[in-house]
Amino acid sequence: MKIKIGLLGLGTVGTGVYKLITSRGGHIRESTGVYPEIKKILVKNLNKPRKVKVEGLLTQNAEEILKDKEIKIIIEAIGGISPAYEYVKEALSSGKHVITANKELIAKHGEELNEIAEKNKAFLKCEASVGGAIPILHQIDRLKITDEIDFVGGIINGTTNYILTKMTTEGRSYKEALKEAQQLGYAEANPDYDVKGFDALYKLAILMRKVFNINVPVNSITRKGIDEITTQDLNYINKWGYKIKLFAWGKKVKDGIFAGVEPVLVEENNILSRINDVNNAIILRGDSFGEYVFVGKGAGELPTGDAVVADLIDILLNYNIKDNKRINFLPIRQGSFTDTFYIRLETHKENILGLKKVLKFLKEQKVSIVESSYENGTFTAIVKMKKSVETFTEKLEKITEIKTIFKVLQEDITEEVSKFEDFVEVI
Ligand code: NAP
Ligand code: HSE
Repeated sequence: MKIKIGLLGLGTVGTGVYKLITSRGGHIRESTGVYPEIKKILVKNLNKPRKVKVEGLLTQNAEEILKDKEIKIIIEAIGGISPAYEYVKEALSSGKHVITANKELIAKHGEELNEIAEKNKAFLKCEASVGGAIPILHQIDRLKITDEIDFVGGIINGTTNYILTKMTTEGRSYKEALKEAQQLGYAEANPDYDVKGFDALYKLAILMRKVFNINVPVNSITRKGIDEITTQDLNYINKWGYKIKLFAWGKKVKDGIFAGVEPVLVEENNILSRINDVNNAIILRGDSFGEYVFVGKGAGELPTGDAVVADLIDILLNYNIKDNKRINFLPIRQGSFTDTFYIRLETHKENILGLKKVLKFLKEQKVSIVESSYENGTFTAIVKMKKSVETFTEKLEKITEIKTIFKVLQEDITEEVSKFEDFVEVI
């Protein structure tokens, strides 16, 4: 038996999907009894050179695919909201199954699209939207049947991890590393989505919806990207034996969710410090399984194509674990997960008063200084707080001489998370 597929988009992801479906079709038939065949491919520009042979398959007219009754499965790899949203909605409404890699679409409209899918007895699958090749959504579906999962977090953007790795280990400039990430097909069409933390934010919203059964408005989560990290900061961070990573995290407590996306310092003995290049690492904590760390390639043609084809196989096997019923809205709260901070402040040599002011403040706050340096008017330090972490950061942010504040994750995420509630202060 054959099943016809309509592919929307033939960029990085679409090409990976095309390569895998055409080269592994026989294996897919052996395992599922169904041979997948791509009948049409939607693109924007018909004259663009392609990496795969697709004569006769390309179209610029979406209706040729969406209205084709023979096509039973749509794979969406266009990206962005419009027209992807309209296409996915139309496909699901007519009972076609949809697989998408589009995290922005699922983070913002996943709830509505899921309802349409359910109403029309269609599958809506989005494994490739989070963690690239890592089969994380599939695993969460299974794990949450037996466990209460209260923490999900980690490194979930390949582009930023690639940039930070290359800047740290090979001395590349930010611009050079970003350009490479774009050439390798890791970055979003607008790379601001990566470097300013939006991509990680969308993925975190999808993960939290899956793990906690809540619908999380994306604008309720605090977000900070990597675009303001300076070489000066990187030098100190390296010198003191830390790595910097874009960290996304969600933690459920009794009456709310703490969540955020931000660059953090990690010590060398923390597993996240060894997650380099395009790799992602996603940590889950459950009351029975304890802790899992899932590691794999977070972006790129074949890794992402692989996640899409895994969804295709699930559909062919009719494998679908139903989502639990959504629980009532839980507020997103502001909080911290650490008592240790990296700060850098700049004072002109003659403005010694500014430096004195900050040192006096740190003394009043009873912080202990773990590392520090004073060079050419720049005071840089890693400081450890005793309590009142959020009040501390709020106050720090108001001191104009302070140019950088990063949180520091300590040795072991499990230990930190168990200390978490001690340090949380609700605003
Ligand atoms: P891409 O390389 O920019 O490819 C986009 C494709 O969509 C292109 O083939 C383009 O056509 C087509 N397209 C764009 N706008 C269109 C429109 N209005 N009508 C018809 N076709 C249109 O993007 P990508 O990197 O493959 O990413 C696609 C999606 O997958 C995004 O949601 C992204 O976040 C997600 N994703 C990407 C990766 C990754 O590693 N890149 C990993 C996981 C998820 P032309 O080729 O003619 O320009
Ligand atoms: N731009 C995304 C990243 C693609 O770099 O992680 C994978 O979702």
